[in-house]
Order: sequence, then C-alpha cells, then structure tokens
Amino acid sequence: MKTLVLCCVCLLAGVGEAVRSTPPPPTVEELSETLQHAYEAYTKKAIQATTGDEVSTLKSRVATLARQLVMQQLFVEERVRSDGDSGIKQVRHHYEGTRPYHSASHTGTSVASLHDHANNIRTVGLGEFIAVLNGVEFRTRHNDYGLRMPSRTSPVYHQVEEIPFPDVPPEVLQQQELADQITEMREWFKAWKNNDHSVRDYRKYFKPVLCYLEGAWTNSDSLEESFFSDRHFLDATSWFDLQEKVRYTSYTGGKSTLENFSYLPTTIMNMINGTYPQVAQWNYRILCHPLKRDVPLNRFRVVDDLIARMANKKTLMEHERTRAARFTLNSFDTDEWVDGKKNYGLLDELMAEVPGKDNYGANLYDESFDTATYPYNTTDTDTKLNVGYYHRWSRVVSKDAMGRTKRHRGFADENLFMAMTTQPKVAGVELNVCTGWHHNHCTLYNQKWTYAIPLEVVYMTPLLKWNPYDVEYKGNSRSDLGKTVTAHGRWGSDRQAEKAFNGTNSKRYYQTPYEFFVNGEQGTSEADTVKSHVGVLDRAGQMHKMTASGTRTFLPFIPNVGSMRTRFPIMPVHGEGSGVWKELEALKDIVLSPVENAHMFHENWRDVTTQGVVLISGEAKGDKHVHRVVLSADQVGMAKLGRTILVVTEETNNHYHEMRVKRLDDTHYYMVGCDGGSSCPDKHYRTMHLAPAEDDENEPGTA
Ligand SMILES: *[C@@H]1O[C@H](CO)[C@@H](O)[C@H](O)[C@H]1NC(C)=O
Ligand SMILES: *[C@@H]1O[C@H](CO)[C@@H](O)[C@H](O)[C@H]1NC(C)=O
Ligand SMILES: *[C@@H]1O[C@H](CO)[C@@H](O)[C@H](O)[C@H]1NC(C)=O
Ligand SMILES: *[C@@H]1O[C@H](CO)[C@@H](O)[C@H](O)[C@H]1NC(C)=O
Repeated sequence: MKTLVLCCVCLLAGVGEAVRSTPPPPTVEELSETLQHAYEAYTKKAIQATTGDEVSTLKSRVATLARQLVMQQLFVEERVRSDGDSGIKQVRHHYEGTRPYHSASHTGTSVASLHDHANNIRTVGLGEFIAVLNGVEFRTRHNDYGLRMPSRTSPVYHQVEEIPFPDVPPEVLQQQELADQITEMREWFKAWKNNDHSVRDYRKYFKPVLCYLEGAWTNSDSLEESFFSDRHFLDATSWFDLQEKVRYTSYTGGKSTLENFSYLPTTIMNMINGTYPQVAQWNYRILCHPLKRDVPLNRFRVVDDLIARMANKKTLMEHERTRAARFTLNSFDTDEWVDGKKNYGLLDELMAEVPGKDNYGANLYDESFDTATYPYNTTDTDTKLNVGYYHRWSRVVSKDAMGRTKRHRGFADENLFMAMTTQPKVAGVELNVCTGWHHNHCTLYNQKWTYAIPLEVVYMTPLLKWNPYDVEYKGNSRSDLGKTVTAHGRWGSDRQAEKAFNGTNSKRYYQTPYEFFVNGEQGTSEADTVKSHVGVLDRAGQMHKMTASGTRTFLPFIPNVGSMRTRFPIMPVHGEGSGVWKELEALKDIVLSPVENAHMFHENWRDVTTQGVVLISGEAKGDKHVHRVVLSADQVGMAKLGRTILVVTEETNNHYHEMRVKRLDDTHYYMVGCDGGSSCPDKHYRTMHLAPAEDDENEPGTA
C-alpha cells in the first residue's frame, strides 16, 4: 500500500510541474501501466509474506511428525526388548505336519538353517533366519559366511582378513607312508576328542574360532554388502531397490529363488536442526575371531529343544548328533557341568576378545554421565574397560539407586554384547547433559555402538591344510589357473583320469585322502554341495580318490575316533528372554528331571512308599526342651537323595527354629544348620530321631 501511495504522490507532483516545464503529462495508458506495476509488486510481496508464515508452520509440523516417528521407532524397539533377548527367532519354513512342532522355529531339521559347503575352502554354510539385536528385528539373506576376521592391522571400516589355518602336526608329516600318516592323524583327533593333551598337545593344531552376528545402524547412502559370502550377494542395486524387493516378496508371499534378499529396517536416527531427518539403515554381518585359548569340547552342553526332538523322534543323545542341535557354553569353565547363577562367565571371556567396528586396534572408553566403566572381573580403578571390544557386564565405582556397582548392557537383555566405535559410517546419538545450579555445566556425549551375539564355535582342524598327495591348490575358482581344475569337462570322476579334477581350487577343495574316513559324508541336507569323494590329479598327473577338506558340521566317521562335530552352534534364542519361556524352561527341567527336582511337586506321585515323618530335635543345652519337626513325604524323598532340607520346627517354650536337616538312615537325621547359622542360639544338639509312635497322632499327609 505504501508503494502505491508514494507513486500517486509522485504522479501528482509530476502533473503540477507539467504546467511550466517540457515533459508532457502521462497518458492514461502510462498511468494505468504504472499503477499495474505497483499493484503487482505489492501482491507479490504480500504473497511472499503469507507463504513465509506457512512454510515455517509446515516446518514445525513436519518436525513434530518426524519426532513422533523417532519416538514410534523407540516404542517398537522397547516393546521387542521386553518381549525377549537378543537372539535368533525363526528360520524359513519348508515343511510342516499335524502338530505345531512339526514345523521349524529357530531350529527344526537344522538350527539357524546351518548346512555344509565342505567343498569350499573357507565357506561355512548358514541359511536365512530372522534375528533380533537390541530390539531391532531383521531378516538375513542366505548367509554362507567365510572364515574371516576383522583386520589386525587396519582400522578401516569393514576391513577383514582371512583367518590362517592351523598347521599339520609335524609328527604326522614325518611319516613316510600315507597309511602311517593317516594312523598318526587319527591319534591327534582322538586326543582332541578326549581333551587329552598329555601325549599329543592337540591345542596347537585344533583351533576354535568364534563366529558372531554383528548389527549396527549405519549412515551409508548406497547399498553396502557388509560381509562377503563366497556364494551369496544382496541382489539389489540400492537400499531403495532392496526395500522394494522385500516389500514385494512380503506382499506376494514369494521369495527370491537364490535367497539373496534381506529385510533390513531403516530409522530416523536424529532430526538435525529440528527439521532435517537423518535416516539410518540397519545392516548386519557375520565374522569370526580365532580364539586365543582352547575351548575343550566338554565345555558345550546340548540344549534340549523339544520342538526338534519331538518332530524328529530323537533321544537327547541322538538329537545332539543332528544338525538341529544347539549348545550352551559352561559359564563356570569347568570339566564337569554345573548349573547355577553366574554373572561373568566363559562366554564373556571369549566375546571379550572380539573387537567392534574399530577392528583389533580399538581403544575406547565409556564415560557417560561422568561415570567411568571398568572391567567386571577386576576390583581396582587403574584400568578402565576398553569398550571397543564386545562386553555385556561391567563395573562402575559409584553405586546406583539400588546400591549396585555391577552393570549389564541393556535393561534385561541377557545376550546383549556391545562395542563402541568411532566409524563415521555408523550412526550415533548425542546427548547434552547440563548440571550445576544454573544448569550451565554442559557435557555433550556422542556415542556410537554396535551389537553382537555369538553364533557358533567352529573348530579348525589340521585337515584344512593336510595335503599328503601334494595336490596343487590353484586359488580362486574364477581365476584363470583356478579354472584349469575343471577345464575340458573335468567333473571329478575317480574312474577316468581325463575327467578327474586337475588340482584343487576355492570351490573344489578336495585334498583329504579318501581312506582317512570311512562311510562317506554324515547327515547331509539338500543345501549341501559336497560330493562324498572325487578323483583329483596330483602335480604328476596321478589320480587319487579324495574327500572334501573344508568346514563341516560333522566330519565323516574316523575309525577309532567316531564322527566328530566341528561346528558348535551357540546362538541364543530371542524367545528365551521372555517370562513365558523362562517359566517353560523351568517346567521342562521339572518334567524331564523329576528326581533331581522332586521338591517341586505338590503331590508325591513318584514314590508312594515314602511317607512323611515326625522328628524330635536334639535337646537344648540350657533348659533341655526339644522341638517336633514334621517332614512331608517329598521332603523325606529329597532327604533320601542326600539333599539338605530346610524346615521350620514346631513351637516349644514360645519359640521355633528354622533348621537345615540331613538324613542318616530311616530313623536318624541330624541338623546341619539353624536359624541362618551353624547352630541354634539355645544350642540344641544336632542328632534328631523319629518321634515315638504315641507322639504320632498328627501323622502328616503324603503331600
Ligand atoms: C544369489 O545367490 C546365488 C547363490 O545361490 C549366487 O550364485 C548369485 O550370484 C547371487 N545373485 C546375486 C545377484 O548376487
Ligand atoms: C544446521 O544448522 C547449522 C547452523 O545453522 C548449519 O550450519 C547446518 O548446515 C544445518 N544442517 C542441516 C543439515 O540443515
Ligand atoms: C578379566 O577378563 C578378561 C577377559 O576375559 C581377561 O583377559 C582378564 O585377564 C581378566 N582379568 C582378571 C583379573 O581376571
Ligand atoms: C593340469 O593343469 C596344469 C596347469 O595348472 C597343466 O599344466 C597340466 O597340463 C594339466 N594337466 C592335465 C592332465 O590336463
């Protein structure tokens, strides 16, 4: 409006001057044109003004919506976290039956869809599965990972190196004859099997490798293959392409025949300046770490997954010898298995050797909220915990609200191993914490973490290197030299030398003499690619009958040794973290071990001949009173098994005791503890005997 008024004033001034000077008065057209311009300029400004308002309104609404999306994602994760622990959840469905347990859960015919590609030099066969890591649920592609570890020398993101294979014992190589080498080699397998390193120190040649599943929110814009598989790759050109393919297969119920799609969620990690969403992409990888110590085979115990046992009709021992079996590690690291509560155990010790995404050079400390993190198993404050390595337990110096200094990552996730990283490609979160009277002492915490669970312990044996016929290894099967192995239609015939493999390559890794094993491959599945034996030419063109030398779940039968398992799946299961599953495990233990857990039954249905008894305690030293003690039939049953029974005595002289009682024989018991100590405050003698018959009017029931 101002412009318009000004223009009018100018125009009027112009008209006044026209009387005495030359410029002619503006025509009506000129006047109207000028007014037109002024009007346009005015409306343009007016529009700009209102649009500016709307843009800022829209911006703030988008910010609110985006914030809600962030919170929604947190809500979902928190929900999943309280439903279960980090672990695997489900494998792809390919059979079913008349009972729910006839189809697979995390196991079925094979846990986590594991299988063998023993003909490949360093491939470990593992199919598709759904897993949860710190509340993030995702679905993998067909994994088939390799025996590779993080780089020992470079901090570069996802830099890996091949794990060196263990050597062949010189005692084997010294033998001149093949038959003697075979005999000696079998002795080494026997030593490994029996955990006997007295004569042959197998620990130098049988090396356990811990393979783990690692997940992280990443900043990467372009599709990234986070780990190399010798057999499978993500079949997509971008993250968007992969998401669309997964959406399509989820909607149509279809699948990629080659199992090369994975479902990897995205999240809004942060809102930069309140309005600019920073989207993070979930990604995972499977890597291995060669353990520094030996893990004797007796440290593993099979998990009784009833779903697989019922479906396959197996005893526990038979089940252990199938691919459906998974194991747990003995937390106490002892030869004999013990069950009991234990915080920091063998698995913590092993995972502590595994670095996060900063690779083995990681050296990072967690000092959030001004509280330094220390190793769980130390008591000093000299060495802080290097949180660049995987851990779940740690320690702080000051007590928390519950008076505890021991910490576990996550709220209640038993299997949450975490490691900190500085990789720019990992998406982090920031928090500004201000303290002091005026909240003006601010510290900006900016951390990036990755998550991991153990998948399996794979034993590398001397078979990976043993090559008694000195067959030439020609490297990658796609290289020119590698291709000569199968040139001219060579398919591995052991009858016609011209069709036998000419040497070995990365996918035809057959260098173990056929005679080392008997009876061919064990328990194979459709996914396996190994041939039980092939013909291979040595450097002199001589043909030999050979078996595969790569990684197997079970080695074929070795005479005098047996069929050795070399892969021990120890992956945790998501559901095991839920309250229902914990209750179910308790119930399984009671049902499957009713003698050990006799005290859990409400009714004595096992041993009807066992009756309850009434005992008379030893006399108190002072006023010589005694107490009656009533034991139920179940308590007597437990006492017969040698267990200590906790009982509350009847009242005498206005008091009673809590006694811990053991059984000597049918008529004699004795007190091993009283009122929380070793003896009662009024010093009762320890011996106890059955109450005389007349004292038995209150015969306890059998319950
Ligand atoms: C998919 O996996 C198969 C193995 O089953 C592999 O041969 C193929 O190259 C993969 N496809 C793509 C596009 O990565
Ligand atoms: C956020 O704001 C800062 C300061 O105004 C600016 O330098 C930066 O580019 C902004 N970032 C984004 C992603 O908008
Ligand atoms: C604590 O545990 C770590 C990793 O398991 C181990 O290397 C270290 O020796 C242990 N320290 C003590 C004092 O036991
Ligand atoms: C086997 O391959 C080598 C090359 O590695 C070649 O020199 C040799 O002639 C081949 N032997 C036969 C019998 O084809």
